[in-house]
Amino acid sequence: MDNEIVTINLSREFKNNKKVIKALNNINIEIPKSVTAALVGPNGAGKTTLIKILSTLMLPTSGTAYVHGFDIIKEANNVRSSIGLATGGERTFYFRLTGYENLVFFASLYGLSLKEAKSRSKELLDIVGLSDFADYPYMKYSLGMQRRLALARALINDPPILLLDEPTLGIDPISAREFRRLIKMISSKKTILLTSHYMGEIEELSDIIFLIKDGRIILKGTSQELKDRIGKIVEAIIPVTQISDKISKFVVGIRGNRAYLRLPKTLIDQIDGNSEIIGETDPTLEDVYAAIIGSGPIDKGSRVKPVRFGRWQA
Ligand SMILES: Nc1ncnc2c1ncn2[C@@H]1O[C@H](COP(=O)(O)OP(=O)(O)O)[C@@H](O)[C@H]1O
Ligand SMILES: [Mg+2]
Repeated sequence: MDNEIVTINLSREFKNNKKVIKALNNINIEIPKSVTAALVGPNGAGKTTLIKILSTLMLPTSGTAYVHGFDIIKEANNVRSSIGLATGGERTFYFRLTGYENLVFFASLYGLSLKEAKSRSKELLDIVGLSDFADYPYMKYSLGMQRRLALARALINDPPILLLDEPTLGIDPISAREFRRLIKMISSKKTILLTSHYMGEIEELSDIIFLIKDGRIILKGTSQELKDRIGKIVEAIIPVTQISDKISKFVVGIRGNRAYLRLPKTLIDQIDGNSEIIGETDPTLEDVYAAIIGSGPIDKGSRVKPVRFGRWQA
């Protein structure tokens, strides 16, 4: 099988106070070998649920998935030995142990002998650039170092597939850049499914992007394919009083009583003749996100309040 990850009508429901939430609603995706794919969508879209199901930490309500050719329900053990998982928000390392000791511990859980676990851990620390910090206790690690250690752990068994849920969450820009370089270095030999809210990161790393919202894949494609769907972006300045619900998600800044807009050209009739048109540009992935995803379910019904900033001169 050429596809390393395949989901078939994959669905997952949760019951919250008798209300049923469809966290995943008939997900059908295919990720070919050696491809880096990204799941992009608002909070609550179902990204983590999908990653958890693919890593066998959670069962689907219906449908199934194949990971490295193995059924996630019937062959969970085989799936587990084919994947490495790292998530941004995890707290699963031992704080008092050093980075090295942590890796040796987890490597021994994978059934490596102590000798193998030690040499593998050294090798992994080298790969993720933490050799100099091997003997620091985990609690002294910066967030960026913690994320790199999480990646090292995901690589212990040299799995063909990596599942990375917000791997750069909360780390500073330079550490994130180093982390991306690391992922790129690894990615030629691995199939990767990652989630992130950073559009630059998605663009840099992924061969294919799945836009997910309310538990459904609403669009997929390469970054360029998604941009081509949006067409040109018109940059315009309009009075804040003219921000309608339809265009509020395209407001990227407000200065005084004027709003700066990046609006798909197809929606140009949504702004009136008093608008000042600055020019036309190609869309960024963030423009695609605004146009197709818009705001998340949490923001539904309420006007998105744009951030005030002064990048452009009024
Ligand atoms: N264990 C759970 N119990 C109840 N509801 C959950 C649980 N996990 C996730 N959900 C709900 O499922 C939906 C998808 O969540 P999640 O997969 O975490 O989204 P994302 O990772 O895209 O932010 C949300 O509405 C969330 O509240
Ligand atoms: Mg999540």
